[in-house]
Amino acid sequence: MTVATRRAELAACRGVTVMYGRGESAVIALERVDVSIAAGERVGLVGRSGSGKTTLLHVLGGLVIPTAGEVRLGGEPMSSLDAAARGAARASTVGYVFQGANLLPTFTAFENVAFAARVSARHEDPAGLLGLVGLAPKLDALPSELSGGEAQRVAIARALAQRPELLLCDEPTGQLDSDTGSRVLDLLEALHERLGFALVIATHDPDVAARADRIVTLEDGALVGDVRLER
Ligand SMILES: Nc1ncnc2c1ncn2[C@@H]1O[C@H](COP(=O)(O)OP(=O)(O)OP(=O)(O)O)[C@@H](O)[C@H]1O
Ligand SMILES: [Mg+2]
Repeated sequence: MTVATRRAELAACRGVTVMYGRGESAVIALERVDVSIAAGERVGLVGRSGSGKTTLLHVLGGLVIPTAGEVRLGGEPMSSLDAAARGAARASTVGYVFQGANLLPTFTAFENVAFAARVSARHEDPAGLLGLVGLAPKLDALPSELSGGEAQRVAIARALAQRPELLLCDEPTGQLDSDTGSRVLDLLEALHERLGFALVIATHDPDVAARADRIVTLEDGALVGDVRLER
């Protein structure tokens, strides 16, 4: 690969260890993990339950500060930033789609997305984003009036309100039946094509991982595989 074709590093961990708790109850969730995510790539993050996938997403997105090691976001070491600057870097770079859609239950689909758009100050149009995920007819629906797949699409629209360069998805299809899950993945892929963000999807499902450009495997908090898939 030449320098000209190498894509810019968007987020990276160097020697990252995350320990939760102290003393006898301490859990090492990640141990000396090195990984770098390039702009625009699609990464499947796999590993057994408890292997550290969610923790790694949180570290990459600046939500969890590692016990040791360094995280860079957009080339900036997160440790060099104060809390406010870290929050701003996060808000301007990273979008999250969590396992359950985690929508605010008393807000409509429109209001859930509008809230994120307001916080990120990106001036994205909530109705336009909901149109992008095929939910123009459901702007005024409450989460309780949406199907699981529709709620997950609102969660994706909400993440897009931050105009992310990096979209971190934690088991985005984990609670959906396989047809609905596959439609949500089709949508994520179409949005990736159109908007060009880097996509990291933590998943237990080998079919989901197989859609990625690269598969990163965790085992007991250690990175044990990092394989680029041929296309
Ligand atoms: N806030 C926390 N406090 C204490 N331990 C935690 C915390 N979050 C995670 N852990 C522990 O850290 C380890 C890694 O957890 P993590 O949630 O990152 O795994 P995972 O690969 O996402 O698992 P799953 O596939 O079940 O979602 C586990 O042993 C878990 O019990
Ligand atoms: Mg998890």
